[in-house]
Amino acid sequence: MRMTVLVDDRPGPGLSAEHGFSLWVDAGERHVLFDTGQGGVVEKNARITGVDLATADAIVLSHGHYDHTGGLDSTLSLAPGSVVYCHPAVTRKRYSIGSRGGTVVGMPGPCRDTLDALPVERKRWVVKAITVCSGVGLTGPIPRGTAYEDTGGPFFLDPEGTVPDPIEDDMAMWLETGHGLVVLTGCSHAGLINTIENALREAHAEKLHAVIGGFHLGNADHRRLRMTVEALQAFRPSMVVPCHCSGTDAIDALTSAFGDRVRPGTSGDSFHFS
Ligand SMILES: [Fe+2]
Ligand SMILES: [Fe+2]
Repeated sequence: MRMTVLVDDRPGPGLSAEHGFSLWVDAGERHVLFDTGQGGVVEKNARITGVDLATADAIVLSHGHYDHTGGLDSTLSLAPGSVVYCHPAVTRKRYSIGSRGGTVVGMPGPCRDTLDALPVERKRWVVKAITVCSGVGLTGPIPRGTAYEDTGGPFFLDPEGTVPDPIEDDMAMWLETGHGLVVLTGCSHAGLINTIENALREAHAEKLHAVIGGFHLGNADHRRLRMTVEALQAFRPSMVVPCHCSGTDAIDALTSAFGDRVRPGTSGDSFHFS
């Protein structure tokens, strides 16, 4: 099983970057694209890294933010045989509220139109844990159980910022390997520890081998960072790959705790699991 980071906020050698995340999973006979980035670099980086997007059997959307779904229409047109896996709330209009007001952060309109028009047999609405292919599964919506993980943030369903966006479409993907579970996260809006716990539970796995993706800890305070690192240590992962929205303070805290088991991600990174 081999995977390649196609889109990340930080560029690997010779590759492009954008704020977003996309990762290609080559699971032998089946190929899964996990998120699509904003759409500006996914095709180019795929070409450079030797990934043939046309062979995608499944395109998974971890949640409906533009930086994970913006490449949906272009990747779908390249992979006419693919099936899209996502939660029904993925196409919601949604906003991030900052000091200058509301910014649209949902799935771009053309991608929403493409998904709406896709034949029903090419869509799987993920409302609970399911299998994508042998050894690859999706958590579906993730319960928010930990007290110290703030799963809110500046996200709202209206531009005035009166209706909080629960981002209930947020989900993770898991891969079963001989060394334990590999958990892939988009943005971890449900909280990194909630996400890992849920993936282990749904996969009926005891051991976490690696966690790769956006950890969404850029605004985490010191207490949350410390408790997240302690909880992650209890899983004893062999590899921790913070990408995209993980945050530099989080990467520093993880590196202090895990040493060279932490490998901050960039576009083009490749991982091999047996
Ligand atoms: Fe994101
Ligand atoms: Fe997000």
